[in-house]
Amino acid sequence: MKPPRLIGHRGAKAVAPENTLASFRQAAEDGADCIEFDVRLCADGGPVIFHDDTLERTSDGTGPVADLDLAALKQLDAGGWFAAAFSGETIPSLAETIALCRDLELGMNIEIKPNPGEAQATAMAALATVESLLGRRGYETVGSVVFSSFEPAALEVLQQEGPLWPRGLLLDERRSNWLAGAQRLQCVSFHPAAELLDRRETVEEIKAAGFLIYPYTVNDLDRAGELLAWGVDAVITDDPRLISAALC
Ligand code: G3P
Ligand code: MG
Repeated sequence: MKPPRLIGHRGAKAVAPENTLASFRQAAEDGADCIEFDVRLCADGGPVIFHDDTLERTSDGTGPVADLDLAALKQLDAGGWFAAAFSGETIPSLAETIALCRDLELGMNIEIKPNPGEAQATAMAALATVESLLGRRGYETVGSVVFSSFEPAALEVLQQEGPLWPRGLLLDERRSNWLAGAQRLQCVSFHPAAELLDRRETVEEIKAAGFLIYPYTVNDLDRAGELLAWGVDAVITDDPRLISAALC
């Protein structure tokens, strides 16, 4: 696997409507070599890209994503809430997103962001879609793909059913023995909230344990430079164009 360096959070969330194909294209244009996006299931069991459990914040729909099938979700506008210029953007399926990433040669950080109670089903469905489009051999042939989740149950399914695909554990708070979960799940990468990386020694501790480090969400150029100088492998940012200067 070739690790990414600059991961666009939900695409280029600062300048385009998050988790849309427009946002993913923007991230590529702005210098990201990978995009992060959130996968959950819709009513027909297909994996779609949407951050929240419910539709209101980032579309003109209402209610849970899980209540609508893909055809109904596709009727919604997922861009106009951000700016009129993006009206008509739709909620992407995972399959559409993978196709775009292949076209643009973008890496994929596929976050399993399940509806309540659907961690395992979401991981299974995402894995099936990835393998149907990219084959079954994981990082040996595919390049930069990593599945991540805050939910150990999702990563466990991936560990069992698709062990060759790289896994990353997301963590939003420091705990005692905080790397143990990632070790148990045989993760290749550790995705902490950037605030948890408070000093160089913390980064060194994670590196010494053998993980790639992809902190989220880093939107300040100086901070990105500091983290990269400390040894993180990539930063996850809402604004790849801004943060790309830290990679020079
Ligand atoms: O994967 C990094 C980040 O996306 C995790 O948090 O809530 O933005 O999906 P969230
Ligand atoms: Mg996410």
